[in-house]
Amino acid sequence: MSDLQDKILKILQNGGFHSGESLGCQLNVSRTAIWKQLQALEALGLEIESVKGVGYRLPDSFELLSKATILKHIAESHGHLPCQLEIFQSIDSTNRYARERAETEAISGAVVLAENQTAGRGRLGKTWVSPFAANLYMSIVWNFDQGAESLQGLSLAVGVGVRRTLVKLGLQDVQLKWPNDIYIGGKKLGGILLEMIGDPNGRCTVIIGIGLNVAMPSVAAQEIDQAWTDLQTQSSSPISRNTLTAKLVVTLFLLLKDFQRVGFKAYRDEWEEADFLKNLPGTVRTVKEGISGVVLGVDDSGALRLALPNGEVQRFIGGELSLGPRL
Ligand code: BTN
Repeated sequence: MSDLQDKILKILQNGGFHSGESLGCQLNVSRTAIWKQLQALEALGLEIESVKGVGYRLPDSFELLSKATILKHIAESHGHLPCQLEIFQSIDSTNRYARERAETEAISGAVVLAENQTAGRGRLGKTWVSPFAANLYMSIVWNFDQGAESLQGLSLAVGVGVRRTLVKLGLQDVQLKWPNDIYIGGKKLGGILLEMIGDPNGRCTVIIGIGLNVAMPSVAAQEIDQAWTDLQTQSSSPISRNTLTAKLVVTLFLLLKDFQRVGFKAYRDEWEEADFLKNLPGTVRTVKEGISGVVLGVDDSGALRLALPNGEVQRFIGGELSLGPRL
């Protein structure tokens, strides 16, 4: 993001209307220069209200991520937490960046955030819609030393951590859909994408990517190909992305510290309490096939248990689960 865009946002941040002329005057540039920068910000996904003859205004909920504010909230709720925080205005993908850094540096405990992702990664090669300053896009780097097997169920446990945080913030009926989607009211609120590097039998590093819709602008939402929701719609009080980030970091750091010792088993009951599809008809699509049955829940390793029409119970460690059909 350019210096001029940054300055424009700082002025618009007070929530009032500002004309192109007054912005130009304050920043010593032409109205056209202001207009061009506003267009560029809109192209990043920022929703700017424009009223002819009055000026431009940002959405009521607008708040930029602030390293100082996030660290202050973390310190208030937890004292010292060894967390290196990096915030990008725009980046292709926080997971891509975190992963590349982790390949050459020891950065366990690093947290990477971005206001906008130009190539946000979702599961199964999908794109994660990431408009500017609207939602939460975060990657956490964490080292584990007992190999990939000890990480079974980690992504589900992270889902439990995200849910705990949202419940603390007053959100109701937060559900989890296997393996690691966050839902409210049958609509997707967020997702988790884990990437692993290192030795699958020994020391490895996991990049934990979390995307949560906070205040999804309607234009960006047109790119989403499934039922979605955001925290602003679901919460009775305004959600600050800085507070949300700090609470998530504290909850997830504690969870990640414990995970290798206790494993997914310790989170299983909580996960099943929030299971969106439990006892409902479901279909698991793997690379090879689609298998339908009734969703029973998960086992101690986080594998999905599906009751097949022939009475057998099949376990899945990967695949995409969807609702239906009723058999
Ligand atoms: C999903 O498909 O449900 C997982 C989405 C994960 C998105 C997050 S946003 C922050 C991090 N960086 C990425 O590129 N992806 C993850």
